[in-house]
Amino acid sequence: MSAPERIPPRSVTPHELLAKGELTVRGQVREASNAVLYCTVEYEGVSAACVYKPVAGEQPLWDFPDGTLAQREVAAYELSEAMGWGLIPPTVLRDGPYGQGMCQLWIEASADEETGAALLALVEGDEPGPGWKAVGFADVGEDRTALLVHADDERLRRLAVLDAVINNGDRKGGHLLPSADGRLYAIDHGVTFNADDKLRTLLWGWAGEPLPGEALTALRRLSADLADGRPLARRLAELITPAEIEALRGRVAELLRTGRHREPSGQWPAIPWPPV
Ligand SMILES: Nc1ncnc2c1ncn2[C@@H]1O[C@H](COP(=O)(O)OP(=O)(O)O)[C@@H](O)[C@H]1O
Ligand SMILES: [Mg+2]
Repeated sequence: MSAPERIPPRSVTPHELLAKGELTVRGQVREASNAVLYCTVEYEGVSAACVYKPVAGEQPLWDFPDGTLAQREVAAYELSEAMGWGLIPPTVLRDGPYGQGMCQLWIEASADEETGAALLALVEGDEPGPGWKAVGFADVGEDRTALLVHADDERLRRLAVLDAVINNGDRKGGHLLPSADGRLYAIDHGVTFNADDKLRTLLWGWAGEPLPGEALTALRRLSADLADGRPLARRLAELITPAEIEALRGRVAELLRTGRHREPSGQWPAIPWPPV
């Protein structure tokens, strides 16, 4: 008698794991403005670490009166997927021990601290130096200023385009997670998709420069995916307001029209403070 054939375990996608898995709270992340819970999620024998931000733990923001920050985080993930660059870890909306919230795969930071530090720096003088892009001058105390720079890195450049699309109001250094596998992930997308221009970011280094071909290709595809009735547009309608979807289409059209990276709308580039 031959041995029974083994049924290979069905592979569970991160999305399925997050959406259907059993969520167990293991701790709370301290340095956070909203309730951020460190959890594990388990489904069909597969488990992973994740964050769970319950809507009940969100600080209300006067300029984001509609919907929830959790919905905006999920909408940002949907946009990241639509652009095809995988910059935002898998994120879902689901129920949990403290009610509805967003659940996002936990990214194990690179053990090499240099990787994170190599994305941003403060330098003396007024030239960014090779491999760096200038953001602007920062007051570093004792009547001294230093030049804030970020790396001339293709992953950051893609993120600058994604942030312009989602209208990110808070792209700071601490929201960039270089992972152990050498990728770069971006987190914390609660203040996005406002119908007014809220772009506040450190990634101004390419401001006004022509967009790379891959960005134009991704934006053209996105523009088609945002048309009424398309799956992406229908999904977004569950997460953000009609006015915000219209403004999103406007931002994509404007990037395609100029063919250039966003420039600051005011006299000074809007950067989050503190920048890390
Ligand atoms: N997906 C994630 N992977 C790894 N660490 C995360 C993730 N999401 C959040 N964190 C950690 O939790 C902290 C707080 O999360 P954040 O999204 O900034 O919360 P808040 O909405 O309160 O600003 C982050 O600075 C980071 O250290
Ligand atoms: Mg934060």
